[in-house]
Parts: sequence; structure tokens; C-alpha cells
Amino acid sequence: MNTPRKLHIKSYGCQMNVYDAQRMVDTLARENFVETDSVTDADLVILNTCHIREKASEKVYSELGRLRESKDAAARDGRDMKIVVAGCVAQAEGAEIVKRASVVDVVVGPQSYHHLPDLLRRAARDGRAIETEFPVEDKFTALAQPQPATIRARGITSFVTVQEGCDKFCTFCVVPYTRGAEVSRPVAKIADDVRRLADNGVREITLIGQNVNAFHGEGPDGKSWPLGKLLHHLAAIPGILRLRYTTSHPCDVDDSLIAAHRELPALMPYLHLPVQSGSDRILQAMNRKHSVADYHRVIDAFRRARPDMAFSSDFIVGFPGESDADFAGTLALAEQIGYASAYSFKYSPRPGTPAADMPEMIDTATMDQRLAQLQQLIDRKQSDFNAACVGQTLDVLFEQPGKRPGQIVGRSPYLQPVHVMASADIIGRVLPVTMTALERYSLFGELHLDSKQGDPTQIAQDLNETTSLVATTGA
Ligand code: 5AD
Ligand code: SF4
Repeated sequence: MNTPRKLHIKSYGCQMNVYDAQRMVDTLARENFVETDSVTDADLVILNTCHIREKASEKVYSELGRLRESKDAAARDGRDMKIVVAGCVAQAEGAEIVKRASVVDVVVGPQSYHHLPDLLRRAARDGRAIETEFPVEDKFTALAQPQPATIRARGITSFVTVQEGCDKFCTFCVVPYTRGAEVSRPVAKIADDVRRLADNGVREITLIGQNVNAFHGEGPDGKSWPLGKLLHHLAAIPGILRLRYTTSHPCDVDDSLIAAHRELPALMPYLHLPVQSGSDRILQAMNRKHSVADYHRVIDAFRRARPDMAFSSDFIVGFPGESDADFAGTLALAEQIGYASAYSFKYSPRPGTPAADMPEMIDTATMDQRLAQLQQLIDRKQSDFNAACVGQTLDVLFEQPGKRPGQIVGRSPYLQPVHVMASADIIGRVLPVTMTALERYSLFGELHLDSKQGDPTQIAQDLNETTSLVATTGA
């Protein structure tokens, strides 16, 4: 076999991009590419871009400026370095990218990653290749699966895409344009991926999609399955100890999802449920299709099903026309819900979206001031939430050695990092930990080793019990 060529991939933005990057690496492994951390000795550099906010796409152009130097340096050494722009900037800007940055050899939109090997061959032949179509074939079937050794090297948690695209058309958002219409994968294919991951040591799966709870994939019975039913199905796969899903829209929360939280111990009581604003007037201008009261109702339904449920959210400040009173509504909502964590962003007009043409842009100083105020509140709420965990005993899934010798790090159900002193054989197990201290965002605790959870022989038994419990309480 020829010497492997080196591939460096850099991802920006959301978890979907992290997952897509892995699938591109898996697909190019078939073409004899191996991943490298270094840009300078790479034969192929892929920038997997994000278009959600202005800063995200501007970063791509400055990175391309730096890559021009690396490419020139490689050429001086007699090496040909190819540069690929993938992701949502590629989709949104297409051929414009090569006009602005001639260093780019391939532009490929998110729906065409399975064509990457072909596009690289076309670029080698014709000098350049651009593809931003939405092909009809199933990209997921065409993309290569990771090899068992690769799965093990990536650790015990994994993302799995279950749906892509969005039909909601919030007026500020580019996703419906860059990722396209909402499409769900068939249940059997998702279950195959999860089984394969579990067989190779993965213990926690996060189902991902731009609007994941709009999932309506075809089930083995030929009917369309909601997300809650998919979660029940996946929880029964031996070896899967934890399930999560992200990102959800409040309007697509249905009874099946609430029931899944009530019935599935493997489904973590932590949900990212973006609200964006706490003002009905702004929610309407954003085309969010829900009110503040609707959002509260959804949160209450989850809390009734799982009293220990915690939430996170995304917020946008400075949406066109946002008044002081509107913003006060956002602060009040964030205070009332008491998020375990949350992200907040300054509104950024995205070309081609309806909000970009709305009058009454909010000035930068006001946006900065609102963002700082909201972030301060969110930070306080997050600290309160974390502090309330000290003294509690929480289940922790252990993932990897910590920075200090003898330390192992895992995650609580609420995604908080938890550090304990223990031997590395607890990695991959869920064990109860009594939290003793909090340092910034990390918890420290004492391990209870007597638990049977996470013991491989016990897992199947526990899962069987879970399945029969579901069978008696379901439908
Ligand atoms: N400006 C600012 N924030 C945005 N988001 C999406 N589009 C924009 C925009 N144009 C935020 C939303 C979304 C998150 C992923 O990014 O809060 O939930
Ligand atoms: Fe964008 Fe989410 Fe709205 Fe879809 S639901 S348009 S992805 S913000």
C-alpha cells in the first residue's frame, strides 16, 4: 500500500459539525488518509465551517489567509497541499469562497460529504471542484462507518445524527437554508449505528439533529416513529448506559418524549431547550411559534415526568426592535426557569434571512450591555445549580483520566465534569459519587465503588429489567 496521506480537519460551530468531521475522516480513511494534528505537514486540510453568526464565518476567511502561507511553504518543499471548505459557509457562499480565497481547491456543502473522494479527484484533474447541491441519495448510507479501533480511540461517548435540516424558519436563522429541509433517518439504520458503537465500548449516545425532536423516522413497522419511541428502542441496546439528544424545539415536544423521560432511566434528566427570548412580541417576530407561557408549560410537563430534570437554553439579545421591556422579559424568564447552564448571543443579521431586512436594528452598545447583563444572570444561576449539587450523590459516567495523577473524570447526569481519585478501570462505568467540592464549573467527589452499575455482566440484566418495565407501563 502507498504511504498514507495526512489529513487535518478543523471544525467550527455545532455538534453536528463535530460528528460530520468524524464521518469525513472515516470516509477518507478508505482513500488512505490518516488524521494529523498538524497543519504544516498535512496533504489535505478541511475547514468544516459554521455560518450561524457573523463571527463564525469571518473566522474561516482569516484561517484561509493563514492556510495560504502553509500551502506556499508545502509547495516550496515540493508537496501539494489541498484545501477544502466544508460546512454551512460552503453551502451558503459556494463559488464566492474561491473568488475571495483562491487558495481553496474544493468547496463542499453538508449534504455532499459522501462525494468528497470524488471531489478531490475532480480537483486534482480540473484544478478545482465545487458541490453545494442537495443530492437525493442517502448521504448517511454512503458515508463510511468508523473502524472498531477508531470507535474505541474516540472514547465512550458518541454522537449519532438522527435527523438533519429544519422546517421551522425562525426569522434570524440560516439553518433551513444551509442544511435544508428536515429529513429523518430510518430507525433501523440508527439502531445499527448505535449497536456498532456499543459493541466497541461506547456507553453514552447523544442523538443529534438541528431540530432533533422533530424526528419522525421510519420504524421497523413501516410507521413514522417519534423521538420518544426511538429513545425507548435504543435504550434496550445492550451496553448503552446513557442517552441524550440535542437540539430541541419547544413546539415539537410531544407525549412520547415526556413519557420517555418518565420511563427510561438511561435517558438523562437534562435538556437543551432553546427559548431565544422571554418576550412574546419578539418570539412572534422571530417566528418561534410559541409564547413564553407555552414554554413554561413544556418545562412543567418535563418536570412533572422527571422532578430532577434540569435545563439549558440559547438566548439572542438585541433582535431587531427588542425594547428594554422585551429584554426585561428575557431576564425574568431566565430567572424563573433557573437554568443549569445557557448560551447567549448578540443578534447577528444573516444575509437572506427575513430578520436581516427588519428595521430597528439595536445599537452595538445596547447589545453589549444586554449580553453582559444576561450572561451575569446565567452565570449566577449556573453557580447556584452547581453549588446545590455539593453534598448530593449523583451517578457519574467515567470517561477518561484527569489532569492530576490518579484522577479520573466523568460527567454527572447534568453534564457537569466530576473528578474522583480512582483506578482507570472505572472508565466506561456509571457509579454513584458524593460531591464534596466545587471549583469553577467542575465538581469533585468521593466514589462509591460498591455499585453494580456499569459492570458488563450486570448491564444486560439491568437493561432487560428496564425493557420489561417499559413494556408494562408503555402505550
Ligand atoms: N444571530 C445570533 N444568534 C443566532 N443563533 C442562530 N442564529 C443567530 C443569529 N442570526 C443562535 C440561536 C440558536 C443558536 C445555535 O445560535 O440562539 O439557538
Ligand atoms: Fe434555526 Fe433552530 Fe429555528 Fe430551526 S428551530 S430555524 S435550527 S433556530
